[in-house]
Formats: sequence, C-alpha cells, structure tokens
Amino acid sequence: MSNKHKLLEKIASRTARVGVIGLGYVGLPLVVEFAGSGFESTGFEVDARKADLLNRGESYIPDVPTAHVAECVAAKKLRATTDFSELKDQDIIIICVPTPLRKTKDPDVSYILAASEKIQATLRPGQLIILESTTYPGTTDEVLKPMFDETGHKLDEDYFLAFSPERVDPGNEKYNTKNITKVVGGVTAISAEVAAAAYSAIVDHVHAVSSARVAETCKLLENTFRAVNIGLVNELAQLCHTLNIDTWEVIAAAATKPFGFMPFYPGPGIGGHCIPLDPHYLSWKARMHGFEARFISLAEEVNSRMPEHVVDLVIKGLNSQRKPANGSNILIMGVAYKRDIDDMRESPALAIIEKLQELGAEVSFHDPYVAEVHLEGNGSRMSGIPLSQEVVTKSDCVVIVTDHRNIDYGWLVEHAKLVVDTRNTTRKLRDERSDGKIIRL
Ligand SMILES: NC(=O)c1ccc[n+]([C@@H]2O[C@H](COP(=O)([O-])OP(=O)(O)OC[C@H]3O[C@@H](n4cnc5c(N)ncnc54)[C@H](O)[C@@H]3O)[C@@H](O)[C@H]2O)c1
Repeated sequence: MSNKHKLLEKIASRTARVGVIGLGYVGLPLVVEFAGSGFESTGFEVDARKADLLNRGESYIPDVPTAHVAECVAAKKLRATTDFSELKDQDIIIICVPTPLRKTKDPDVSYILAASEKIQATLRPGQLIILESTTYPGTTDEVLKPMFDETGHKLDEDYFLAFSPERVDPGNEKYNTKNITKVVGGVTAISAEVAAAAYSAIVDHVHAVSSARVAETCKLLENTFRAVNIGLVNELAQLCHTLNIDTWEVIAAAATKPFGFMPFYPGPGIGGHCIPLDPHYLSWKARMHGFEARFISLAEEVNSRMPEHVVDLVIKGLNSQRKPANGSNILIMGVAYKRDIDDMRESPALAIIEKLQELGAEVSFHDPYVAEVHLEGNGSRMSGIPLSQEVVTKSDCVVIVTDHRNIDYGWLVEHAKLVVDTRNTTRKLRDERSDGKIIRL
C-alpha cells in the first residue's frame, strides 16, 4: 500500500499521531482540537514553561478552557514536549511558530526555518507536513520543499507538504478552530488531498485550493483587506474630525445599505500579531519582483498615525479646560490591542503612552487583563493600577484605548473630568450624562 493510502487510513481511523510545533495562540487551540477529536496529539515547544503547563492540564490561552485541556491530558490524548527528536513518531506535523518582521520590516522566517530543520532531521516516509504560520507566497514551495527534498525522500511518494492559513480570531465567541472554514493548498494535488483529509477530521469545512501559493496569498489578502479598510475609516475619522462630522453616525448610516458596504470602524491604531505585520509579507514578496503594493503602504501610513491623532485629541481636550499636557494626570483605560483579551503585541496603547510621557504627562493605566507593559521606546516597565473612584476623579483625562466589556463606562464617565473615547464605547451615554466632556475619535 502506498504511503498516501496508509496515511489516509490512519487519519480515517484516528490512529494518525499529530505533532504541532509552537503552542501559542494558534498552535494550542489546534493541538487541543486534534486531541479532543481522538488523535494522539503532541505539542512541541521551545518554551518549557508552556510545555509544563500543558502537561499539568492547564491552559494559558483564554479561548482554550483549562477543563478541556485537563480532560485531553487525562485521556492520554494530549501532551507537550521540548524534545524534538519525537517528531519522528508523528504522522502529521503542523508548524505554528511566529512570523515576525525584522526591524527593516522584511519577513523574518527564521522560526519557520528552525522548526523545519528539526523536521528535516527526523523526516521519514509517511509524514505529512503542514505550514500554518502566516508567510509570503512561495515559502512552502521555495523554502520548505527543498529542505525536505535534501533528505532524499520524495514528495508525494514518501512525504506530503501543504500550507493552510490559520484564521483563528482570539476572543471571538462565535467562530473557533472547528467552525471556521479551513483553506488548504498542497504543493501538489496529492499533498492537498492528504492535508484536506487531515483537517476534515477536525473542522466542519475544508476549502482546497490549487496550490500552496494560493493558500499563502489568501491569508495575506484577508489581512491586507482588513488593514486597508481600517486605514480607510481611520482616514475618514480624521477627515470627519476636521469637518466636525460624527464618523460613527456616518458609518452606522452607511451600514444600513444591504449590499456593497461592509462596516469597518476607526480606532487608536492597529495591533496584534497579524494585521500590522502580514501585509508587509505580501509587499516584500511583490517588491522582490519589482512591484510596489501602494495600498499596503498607504494603509500603514494612515494606521500608524492614529496614536498621534489620539494624543492630539487629548491635548485639545485638556486645552479646552485650560490645562497643558505637561504635568496632567492621564489614565489609559485598556492597553491590550483589542477587547477582552490580554494580547499586547503591537498594541497602539504603547505608542499613545510613550507620546504622552514625552509631553511630560503623568500616565497610568488600568487593564483587567494586563498587569504590566514594556515600553520599548525608553526600555521601562509600567505596572497597571487598580480602578477606583479616586483614580478616575484624580485624572485630568481618561483615554479609552481598549473597550473591554467588564468595565462600567457609565460610572467612568460620571466621575471623569474629561474622556477621550477611541472606540465609541460611550455612545449611549454621551447625550444624557456626558456634559460635553467626551471627545470621540
Ligand atoms: N494570533 C493570531 O490571532 C493568529 C491568527 C492567524 C495566524 N497567526 C499566525 O500564526 C503563527 C503563530 O502565531 P501565534 O499568535 O500562535 O504566535 P505565539 O507567539 O502566540 O506562539 C508561537 C509559539 O511558538 C513557539 N516557538 C517559537 N519557535 C519555536 C520553535 N522553533 N519550535 C517550537 N516552538 C517554537 C513560541 O515559544 C510560542 O509559544 C504566526 O505566523 C501568526 O502570524 C496568528
């Protein structure tokens, strides 16, 4: 029997062993999903702390319930290891390591290379390798395949190789690993077939495409689409501010159109591991071929200016109360890059805090999910403070940067002297209870 048929049989009978490399926001939910579906699953991590937590049955990602992890560990379907020689025992290996940018904003695929070297070292016939880390078109074909071919094993005869983008949205209560359609692109049609079979065992819908490049580019289109549309509404917010028009009312009105319009909302800037980074992977690859991706550059320019716009609003608000930013107490509400999560990566709150500090403001923050932030600009660390009436009344300005849902915004506005609301969180309050002290983006 061919390696393909053996592997398809193992997948169908759930006897295929699954290894997931990188147990972060993407890898942990995925390995738990395979374990919960009956596959013997192993997480491979360089961070021993994460591996230990998982082996104790504890989750460290809010979307993954500890009870579920504990159940899978107790059933001996889930474990983690830092010993990469165990990769040889896996039938399916999925790479979920970070893909950051270098300081020059060029892709940094060094984590993918490190993981692939480990796979290369123990590659054996009958293994399926899938890359899930977001990356530029061509990574799977041009970087991974040559590494695995070097071992002498033959694609589709011995091993199978595919790319499948991860679309998980941390904090999303409606969509999760299981019910988000999985796009799969094989380096060949045979590899696509095997990879699609593997995912079909754990997700509701698989959408196979004709190549790994299409799957890689699909992910970059999705996130570039968001970056560009957010850039558009962020520019609209600045434009409306100049014209004294309510941006949020304009968007709400436009959203009543049942076709041809999809609402995006302005904010203090973009954050997270995806939207600010991924479009650069696409523009970098395009530049290698002499093509300049202008929408991507423009969106980045507009989005990265938003923290400055927020600081301008704070200065204006303080000025209207005859106060300088220098020496004023500013309370930042929420520092995570989006609501109800603890992720600080690329959060615009950091730029806002640093810019206010540069102006001489006394800045503090409260975030129910984040205890401490690291300010890269001046290398300092800053601890969050508990929220109290005294803290709010003592502040000259409260800036709502992240609209976590477990905050009583009515109470906040009632006790604040001035509120800069970057998320339209106070929309219901502003007429009755705000006394004109709220400035919205
Ligand atoms: N976070 C998201 O919402 C999201 C959504 C879609 C796609 N992605 C993409 O998925 C990939 C992973 O993102 P993430 O958010 O899970 O990152 P993360 O930083 O949360 O997790 C990555 C994990 O990989 C581990 N790691 C690093 N190098 C390793 C190696 N050589 N071997 C084993 N483990 C290693 C790290 O210790 C970390 O635990 C990225 O390419 C990202 O762009 C992320």
